[in-house]
Amino acid sequence: MAVIGVYDSGIGGLSVLRALREQLPGQDMIYLADSGHSPYGERESEHVRRRSRRITAHLRRRGIEALVVACNTATAAAIEELRQAHPDLPIIGVEPALKPAVALSQTRRIGVLATRGTLQSDKFARLLQSLQDGQVHFVLQACDGLALAIENSLDGSAHSMAALRECARGHVRALGACARVEGQIDTVVLGCTHYPLVANLLQELVGADISLLETGPSVARQTRHRLGAAIGSGAATSQGRLWLECTGTGQQLQQAAARWLGANHAVQSIDLPD
Ligand code: DGL
Repeated sequence: MAVIGVYDSGIGGLSVLRALREQLPGQDMIYLADSGHSPYGERESEHVRRRSRRITAHLRRRGIEALVVACNTATAAAIEELRQAHPDLPIIGVEPALKPAVALSQTRRIGVLATRGTLQSDKFARLLQSLQDGQVHFVLQACDGLALAIENSLDGSAHSMAALRECARGHVRALGACARVEGQIDTVVLGCTHYPLVANLLQELVGADISLLETGPSVARQTRHRLGAAIGSGAATSQGRLWLECTGTGQQLQQAAARWLGANHAVQSIDLPD
């Protein structure tokens, strides 16, 4: 049976993998966390492109028949190049949910939390441009350090939890006032796949009545429609197999998978040098 490959710089793509496993329960998947070469969001885009090429080649050798780039930063930097290099492979990416935010926002003021790499990319600039109608206003916040703080917080120590809260609070504050009031932000886009993993904290910081938008479920739906019969998405009799691979130590991925996928999966550490 076909296998779907899914990758991210670290554990963030689990927010997409979780949705994929809900939408395609019988499907076998390989998840690769490139923790040995993360974070992507504050690195040169050439680094992210090089890693994406390397990971895709590796996953193809593992026999994948579709690829989900579960990382906004890697999608922005590398998806066009990957599609050109692998025209026979369905490749699905993620992008910040700006369009749904425009449809949802009443105040027409939308906050976007994402990595510096995503916000500085040409792909994001084109997306933003396509939605400018002179009425909607986007407030962009490059959340340096936030993905890393989320990874580090998995150890559950008081120190790392406090560091995460401090980092998140700083970025949310920088957005400005959030409320369902004219002139204020009523919708916040989580433009990095790590951020839904701390949605409760972000919701607390922006306020309970602010809409937070993530992309995992819509990427999973898109993957299901795109691949349809080719991947046997019919009634699943058993949960598909899942292989977890990590270019780092693997401990964080193991802890994160136990927390967000609700099962104990072994993590294989792999060496994938540039
Ligand atoms: N999870 C990634 C994203 O969606 C990036 C995190 C990072 O490595 O900076 O953008």
